[in-house]
Amino acid sequence: MGKNTIIGIDLGTSTTEAAVIRNGKPEMILNFSGQVITPSAVGIDADRQIVFGEKAKAQYLLAPKDTVIEVKRKIGTKEMIYMGGKAYTPTEISAMLLSHVREFVSEYLKEEITRAVISVPAYFDDLQRQETVEAGKQAGFMVERIINEPTAAALSYGIGHMEEESHILVYDLGGGTFDVTLLEMFGGVLEVKASSGDNKLGGKDFDECLIRWMVRQFRSKEGIDLEKDMAAMVKLKEQAELCKRELSAQDSYRVMIPFIAKKDGEPVALDETVTVSLFEELTRELVERTHAPIDVVLADSGVLPAEIDRILLVGGSTRMPMISRDLENYLKKEPSRAVNPDYAVAEGASIQAGIIEGSISGEDSLVMTDVNPYTLGIRTLSDFSMNYMSVIIPRNVTIPTVRKDSFCTSADYQPEAKIEVYQGESDDVRKNHFLGEFIISEIPLKPAGEEKVEVEFAYDLNGMLEVRAQIVSTGEEASVAINMMEHLPGSGDEEKVDVEKWKEAPHAKQFRTVIRRAERRLKNEELQDMPLYKEDLEDALYELKCALIEEDLERAEDLEEEILDMLEY
Ligand SMILES: Nc1ncnc2c1ncn2[C@@H]1O[C@H](COP(=O)(O)OP(=O)(O)OP(=O)(O)O)[C@@H](O)[C@H]1O
Ligand SMILES: [Mg+2]
Repeated sequence: MGKNTIIGIDLGTSTTEAAVIRNGKPEMILNFSGQVITPSAVGIDADRQIVFGEKAKAQYLLAPKDTVIEVKRKIGTKEMIYMGGKAYTPTEISAMLLSHVREFVSEYLKEEITRAVISVPAYFDDLQRQETVEAGKQAGFMVERIINEPTAAALSYGIGHMEEESHILVYDLGGGTFDVTLLEMFGGVLEVKASSGDNKLGGKDFDECLIRWMVRQFRSKEGIDLEKDMAAMVKLKEQAELCKRELSAQDSYRVMIPFIAKKDGEPVALDETVTVSLFEELTRELVERTHAPIDVVLADSGVLPAEIDRILLVGGSTRMPMISRDLENYLKKEPSRAVNPDYAVAEGASIQAGIIEGSISGEDSLVMTDVNPYTLGIRTLSDFSMNYMSVIIPRNVTIPTVRKDSFCTSADYQPEAKIEVYQGESDDVRKNHFLGEFIISEIPLKPAGEEKVEVEFAYDLNGMLEVRAQIVSTGEEASVAINMMEHLPGSGDEEKVDVEKWKEAPHAKQFRTVIRRAERRLKNEELQDMPLYKEDLEDALYELKCALIEEDLERAEDLEEEILDMLEY
């Protein structure tokens, strides 16, 4: 094995796996306990030592305050996580998990490993991806590539089936997230057609349905509310997950927790038998929630259910029999078990790593394309808004891609234009995520609409977005390169403007009455029947508050007039 090996890591909500290419094929890496699967858990034990994996998961029951699980759900948020009385960011906790991975892979491969490809749910937004890269860096890895989990899963299937021409639907229901992706494979090219998902849906939610049910049962039988008792809830959680797993293999399971609470000084037990049909009834709504993302993916890719050649099941939660049954019902096709649901993502990440390091030879390697999961565009003026999102690259377009559009000047004798780049689905850029900006100047001085600026977005597979603007009449150019992976948070861009700060703005007093009137009108119930009017009024009010904060008196006065007109109505 050569030096500078790149490994593939599937950093999951509940479990983490790592793989490496050996003799041209993925091989799963064993952790210090000789296991492929490492629970994504970290804790501080009784001796104040950091523990990981099974050990950490096991102590969760006894010391929930010293143990962290399921941190992936929080990555990209500002929420602090407490462990052993200290506060950590989700990124720091993820970095701890990854440094543990780095230790056991280095031990297993007898080489100091510093390079990795890490997978993330396709539906992770830019910030969540950047935080994953950051966690990798903090753990001592150079993160060579972030790969979407379903793409990785398809890669692990595709590498052995290159001659096939097919539409592959990857259905990944893990611990915390649900991803669905449609890929097309032909002539050694694996192309992601569309992907969608729900990053708040996973095995954990199935556990919670069971927990809630048990809490209700216990309340009605014993009159005791277990929800208030953290120790009881931790026991319930453990039992609920166990019960759920058992129900994947048998028809019923008896949950028995002897000392869950006390009544009149005597211990009370929880004893409930859960049948598969009860479990399926309790969680039906969760299974149904997987349908909408499937529909989105089919619609966006223009593929009919009958054209799907293979459904790959990925993620531990697809072991629940109702999942295959539901898919077979919904898509009229039986899912395939061609990949190992626990290994496929890590294997695929290692294949990507092998392609980068060259250990997978050219003829064996699949060419991969991907899609951009979010719409990309720039801020422009429209007849109705100063913050209109003009789309340049729509969501789910295959990347690499280059797209352009041209825009006319909007003011007379406008010497320059500011190009502000955003990511997101709203047609109001303020509700989207700001990525970067630049100014194109030396526009010939002409009346509004007579000069044209062409804006081009080039998005490559490494997550680089190059935005270029060119004045059509003179050829003058300006551009910005946005590294979607290194666009680190904390620079302040992500802070949402708190519009209620308008009250502190210098011109607040002058506009107080109109704002109050508009706010009162918005509370009026009759507005329920006039959604468009309501939305316009809300928008205008929001813009007015922003204008005040930005101290743009002229715009504020225009907006005041607009609002007064609307209030006449
Ligand atoms: N036999 C089984 N039956 C039902 N659920 C199972 C079974 N085995 C594992 N699970 C569930 O699968 C989930 C973990 O799946 P997996 O390890 O694929 O998730 P992950 O990769 O950590 O999460 P994600 O992909 O959402 O980040 C857990 O919720 C676990 O309870
Ligand atoms: Mg997973």
